[in-house]
Amino acid sequence: MKKIRIFESRTKALDSIPEKQAKRVVIGDLKVCLARFENQFFAIQDACPHSKASLSEGTINPHGEIICPLHSYCYDLNTGREFQQQTNDAEVWKVKEDGKGIYIEIE
Ligand code: FES
Repeated sequence: MKKIRIFESRTKALDSIPEKQAKRVVIGDLKVCLARFENQFFAIQDACPHSKASLSEGTINPHGEIICPLHSYCYDLNTGREFQQQTNDAEVWKVKEDGKGIYIEIE
């Protein structure tokens, strides 16, 4: 497992991603949608499993799901499950934090 630091501190992460918003993070060939919901950070694949729209351009609903900007499928930020199982679930990665920053864990 690889642990990739995406922010130097929680403060920088909070400054960079407002509550209920998301940002695309590119790690090599991997495009990750990094989302903030209730002051927690979540990492979900950026390409929507339906037709590859960028989930980081979507919105986050009150249930902690990111809504795809193209056809409005909803993916749980924690599990990647699409709400109505209309398509494959999205891949998600753990986001961890320590005194030196915020990391995404990639298998
Ligand atoms: S591309 Fe995301 S729901 Fe269709």
